[in-house]
Amino acid sequence: MADAYEYLEIERRDEIAIVVVNRPDKLNALNAATVAELGRASRALAADDAIRGVIVTGAGERAFVAGADIAELAEMGPLSGVRISRQGQDVFRFLETMGKPVIAAVNGYALGGGLELALACHLRVASETARFGLPEVRLGIIPGYGGTVRLPRLIGKGRALELILTGEMIDAAEAHRIGLVNRVVPQADLIAEAEAFLRTITANGPIAVALALESVERGLTTTVEDGLVLESNLFGLLASTSDMREGMTAFLEKRKPVFHGK
Ligand code: COA
Repeated sequence: MADAYEYLEIERRDEIAIVVVNRPDKLNALNAATVAELGRASRALAADDAIRGVIVTGAGERAFVAGADIAELAEMGPLSGVRISRQGQDVFRFLETMGKPVIAAVNGYALGGGLELALACHLRVASETARFGLPEVRLGIIPGYGGTVRLPRLIGKGRALELILTGEMIDAAEAHRIGLVNRVVPQADLIAEAEAFLRTITANGPIAVALALESVERGLTTTVEDGLVLESNLFGLLASTSDMREGMTAFLEKRKPVFHGK
């Protein structure tokens, strides 16, 4: 699989895949081909039963992803603008809803589409050198890969609008303070920390993890009543899994559970 991509590198460490956006001479900016490759890689990882979680990061030490490729965006017209935005949204939405936990390991600039990619991930770990921003308004556009929708849900409307309307960057400590990232670690430890974080999750029942993601995701976009009904139904559905029996039996037998995703 690793050879099939021009702008991504994919490394597998048993049940974890590390997806590296690899265009360092352009600070890993997302051209259309990279967005398409992210979509293809996400579909392949979603379909791969051996993979239980994903880390997304950027190549090199300067950037996670410095945004959509401005050289490409400069050519867009109204209709292609809508199409470019929809294509990026669809790829990020697939990643967000594919049923496996995804952690962004933010190793430098996460700007524009780069921050939006990190927002589509479920959790974010940042290096101390990471920088975050949505500078689109400085270019005369708005975030088009879900930033106006996801950022207010994550950090609240006031803080989100501050970033969206000023276009200013914040550092990792500030991103942590406002809840934009879960953890901040030294650059040298970033991938190891993200991996340890992800393995804490992938050690749990994979169906439970997938349905927890679904319940939270849908719960945020529906009424409290409908969210609670969905939660109960998913809760009941888990009682049909051998993973539930394994988890509870292991607890009662005072041993570690071994989940098979069944
Ligand atoms: N799209 C296309 N190319 C980009 C890019 C982007 N979003 N971000 C960086 N690059 C390119 C630069 O054009 C430059 O290419 P070149 O060497 O061929 O000239 C290369 O990456 C290195 O970037 P450079 O600007 O020289 O690095 P810097 O350290 O001076 O500045 C940033 C770093 C991140 C502050 C600056 O690159 C920047 O502002 N990038 C755009 C961020 C942005 O607006 N993103 C939202 C897009 S919607």
